[in-house]
Amino acid sequence: MWIRLLFLVFCGLLVLWGCGESSPEVSGPDGQAIYTQNCVFCHGADGRRGLNGAGDLTASTLPLELRKEQITNGKGLMTPYKNILTPEEIDAVARFTLTLTAP
Ligand code: HEC
Repeated sequence: MWIRLLFLVFCGLLVLWGCGESSPEVSGPDGQAIYTQNCVFCHGADGRRGLNGAGDLTASTLPLELRKEQITNGKGLMTPYKNILTPEEIDAVARFTLTLTAP
């Protein structure tokens, strides 16, 4: 009898675990949406536009931390975003620009 109960509990745990896995991730800011709203004008939808000397993001080798820093503080003609985006949004959009460099 108790074996059966244990079995049921075990199954319940598995189901819970399964649900945890399939449920959508805790949704943070949408990096792509932020990029579309703030960055496309200079960098272009695919990151290659390069208006006003904006770096070709697909060719950028800048690591994530430096991207976040540059987006936060700006550089040259690029706008600083520290008063426009939250740190979480800057993180999300920086991660999105990394996907533009993927082969
Ligand atoms: C006003 C135009 C403009 C906008 C808007 C803009 N950028 Fe830039 N961006 C530039 C310019 C110009 C550079 C090159 C700066 C330099 O090196 O002097 C640059 C460089 C970069 C680089 C570094 C590329 C490299 O390898 O050197 C990243 C990453 C970047 N931008 C991301 C973003 C993101 C993300 C956004 C939106 C949140 C954004 N930019 C919005 C103009 C802009």
